Amino acid sequence: MHLDPEDERILAGEEGETRQKLLELLVALGKVFGAERLVPIASAQVSGASYKTIGKYGLEWLASLDAKAVVPAVLNPIGMARTRWEEMGIDPAFAENQQAVVAAYERLGIQLDCTCTPYYLYETQYGDHLAWSESSAVCYANSVIGARTNREGGPSALAAAIIGKTPCYGLHLDKNRLPQMVIDVHADTSKWTIADYGALGYHAGKIVGNRIPYFRGITLGADSLKAIGAAMAATGAVALYHVEGITPEAQKNRYDLSGIEAVPVEQAEISRLFTDIPVDAVALGCPHCSPAELAEIARLLAGNIVTKPLYVFAAQGVIDKNARIVDNIEKSGARVFADTCMVVSPVMEQYCSIMVNSGKALAYVPNMCGGKARIGTLEDCIRVATE
Ligand code: F3S
Repeated sequence: MHLDPEDERILAGEEGETRQKLLELLVALGKVFGAERLVPIASAQVSGASYKTIGKYGLEWLASLDAKAVVPAVLNPIGMARTRWEEMGIDPAFAENQQAVVAAYERLGIQLDCTCTPYYLYETQYGDHLAWSESSAVCYANSVIGARTNREGGPSALAAAIIGKTPCYGLHLDKNRLPQMVIDVHADTSKWTIADYGALGYHAGKIVGNRIPYFRGITLGADSLKAIGAAMAATGAVALYHVEGITPEAQKNRYDLSGIEAVPVEQAEISRLFTDIPVDAVALGCPHCSPAELAEIARLLAGNIVTKPLYVFAAQGVIDKNARIVDNIEKSGARVFADTCMVVSPVMEQYCSIMVNSGKALAYVPNMCGGKARIGTLEDCIRVATE
């Protein structure tokens, strides 16, 4: 693997033990995957942020590090809202540990935006090399923006943030970004909502696994693209997908799809995911809400009062820029929380059954929160929360 003189100095320990160890980690990773070099990155997004997932030993490892990120680096959602954790009903002992994790990342120069949608806060451009680790953010960056990132683990994303580079393999290379399977959607999608696309992603992820799908037969906007990718990253390990005529690389390239396996998806396969099991809470914002999604939630809630707990999750930066909309949502009794989500926060474990409008949450809530999950359209979620 080619290393430049600066890399060699870091490896010799001339810039401290932490930078030395973290570069060793990146070089080892690069060798495993056959990288010929490191590539400079525009930004990093670091998972392993909730105390629920990182635990005591992860916190001890973070506390042992002594260096600063050299590129913009954002933290993934943590287990609670940083300023409103008491209102969320978080156990003070958990909050104390979570605050220690956040302080450890802050000391390492990681920005405390705590979101899986950093692309709403910081500009990410087509062709940028990144080291992002939250799977929905990775899928969005690669597919919707046309940036380039592998699905990093928390430690490798942190190492890349501190070194400013990542091993150049996998999705950083043109040859690994080609479609590997075609998904033909046979349905009238003209009335499909974000939840339908989330359900399609939930279904398609199981078929596709870790391949790169190329969708035909769908026309969708940014929030639906976010939903389909997040769900495929959850039920499969999809990190990049293309949509004919929509996603940037599918617009730019003429792919030869001959000889590639093509799988049809019928409306009935999507419809059967929408059940009507009773729920005791509703959670929206997986991935974190866009400004348009917040506005739609506020519109649907106008004049209503919630009868069940209704949680909405979004990045603090998005909440701050849409303060009036957020106030209107909260007038209904719903709560809009930053920094966390229905999957990584322990607060959702108190519910037996949660309604969501996200294919990713449909996949993760049962495993991570222990309850059942039901998917519905945003309109249905608001109806159930207020009936
Ligand atoms: Fe984001 Fe949490 Fe969903 S990290 S993608 S809101 S599971």
